[in-house]
This record gives sequence, structure tokens and C-alpha cells, in this order.
Amino acid sequence: MTKTLIFKQTHGKLWFDGKFVDCNEAKISVQTHGLHYGSCVFEGERAYGGEIFKSRTHTDRLINSCKLLGFELPYSATEFERAKQELRQMSGIEQAYVRPVAWRGSEQLGVSASGNTIHAAIAIWEMDTYFSDKMKGIRLDIADWRRPPAVCAPVKAKAAGLYMICTLSKDAAARAGYNDAMMMDYEGRIAECTGAHIFFVRDGELHTPSAEWILDGITRATVMEIAQVRGLTVHERHIMPDELPRFSECFIVGSAVEITPVNEIKGTYFTPGEVSRQMIEDYDTLIHGKALV
Ligand SMILES: Cc1ncc(COP(=O)(O)O)c(C=O)c1O
Repeated sequence: MTKTLIFKQTHGKLWFDGKFVDCNEAKISVQTHGLHYGSCVFEGERAYGGEIFKSRTHTDRLINSCKLLGFELPYSATEFERAKQELRQMSGIEQAYVRPVAWRGSEQLGVSASGNTIHAAIAIWEMDTYFSDKMKGIRLDIADWRRPPAVCAPVKAKAAGLYMICTLSKDAAARAGYNDAMMMDYEGRIAECTGAHIFFVRDGELHTPSAEWILDGITRATVMEIAQVRGLTVHERHIMPDELPRFSECFIVGSAVEITPVNEIKGTYFTPGEVSRQMIEDYDTLIHGKALV
């Protein structure tokens, strides 16, 4: 179900500290603070037909993630947007994955390194749909690791360090034969997946975990927009896992996975149906720059 995608730029130019550089020539120091202490934030975006979907929203979130980690992106949103657009055009890739990243540099390798230079880069590579046969649905494990509360980590930052438990969870799920893992929050409520948010359907209405301790999802917001146009009620609330059997459909949403139906969460089964199908169709309309009718 998961296609073999090369999740990395292997050729061509990337943008690195204000210049376009061959991706294999762009080098950073082994003594980089972002590498040792996780002072690094990033974005994951897609271009469709050459247009980066919600590009400015991603840039604004990146700038905010930097702030939440105590540093400033050394570019304005307008400058960063220009860099992304120029890189996209230079690459010639129409269906692209775009990966901006910003991190503290290598001047000091102590826990505190507030004077370190801030670096930024943008990589780009070709990206097809993440999962094939979407309406067949994917299988989710339930992760052992739980999402931290806002008093334990800057949970609203798309910070590299927060992905440590996502990588552990996704790899454990893959070893157990699942496509991904659903993660609980620190109190055992359903939170999100390792790189996507989650929605459930009951009696034609949508239910999704409230956003207090999870990333402010750009696709999640798009799903809300679609729901509004389609007259679907959305309940943002705390959802416990014992409710799972009472939902008929489930789908995960994110810039990378787009809208992907789920047919199983560790022994609880769902049938991807009309709400998921309509959501996929409407999302496809929006990402191609058209209006919903
Ligand atoms: C942990 C996590 N949750 C949710 C999402 C979905 O967010 P978005 O729709 O903004 O891509 C992502 C992807 O960035 C993610 O990494």
C-alpha cells in the first residue's frame, strides 16, 4: 500500500542560506547545534501543477516554529516565499514535495547557544501520492509513545525533536505490518498520527481530536473548510480509544498523506465510504487551485 518513494532530493539545486546550491554540495558542520540539541524546525509542503499549496501558510508556520524555539528566521515571509517559488521554477518539478528547514548553527555546542547563526534551506523533489488505491484504506497501529502536553514541549512548533517519538512509532508500526501508527496524548486520548491528523465519521458528522496539544494542521484546516462548504458538522473534542468501534469511517489528513482513508486501527475496522470519497475529491479540487462547486 505504501509506495516506495525516495523521500529526499537526490539531484539538482536546493536553496541554502540565500543561494542556490547543488544538493550534493550543500554541507553543514558535524558540530551543528540543530543536530546535537534538536534546535531545528521544518515544513512539509506539496506543489501541484507547479503551485505550492498554501505556501504562505506553511511559511508563516515555519516562522512561528522558529519563534517557539527561541530564534528568528533570518528572512522575511516574502523573501522566503520568493526563494520557494524560484526553487520550484528552477527545478521544473510540477508535482513536488518541498522541505524548508531552519536550524541553529555551529558556533557553540552548549545547551544554550543563543548567539549561534540561524541557517535555512529548502529542498525539493518529485512526489507522487503517498498511498496507492486510497479507497482501500490503510492500517494503523496504536503507538506505545504518547504525545507530550504543552507544559513538557513546544508542541505547536513543527520541531525536529518532537519527531523522535514519531519515528520510533512509525518504525514499530511498520515492523508489525501496519502503514502508520495512531498516537495518544499523555492522558490516553486520541491525538494524531506520526505525520498526519485524524478524523472519524459517525452518522454523517466528523469528529476530530481538539487541537490543544497537537500541531496546527494546514490540511486539518482545509478539511474544516470543506466540511463547512458541504454542510458537515465537525466536532473538535477529546476522543478516547474506546469510542473507536462507534465510528463508521476514519481518514488521516496531512500535506504528505493528503486525505487517506483508514480501514483498521489495530483490530477495529472501518469501511471507507461516501464521506471519505467526497473529502478526497474536494481536497483534489482545492489543491489544483479550483473552487468547490
Ligand atoms: C505530527 C504531524 N501531525 C500532523 C501533520 C499534518 O499537518 P499538515 O496538514 O500541516 O501537513 C503533520 C505533517 O506535517 C505532522 O508531522
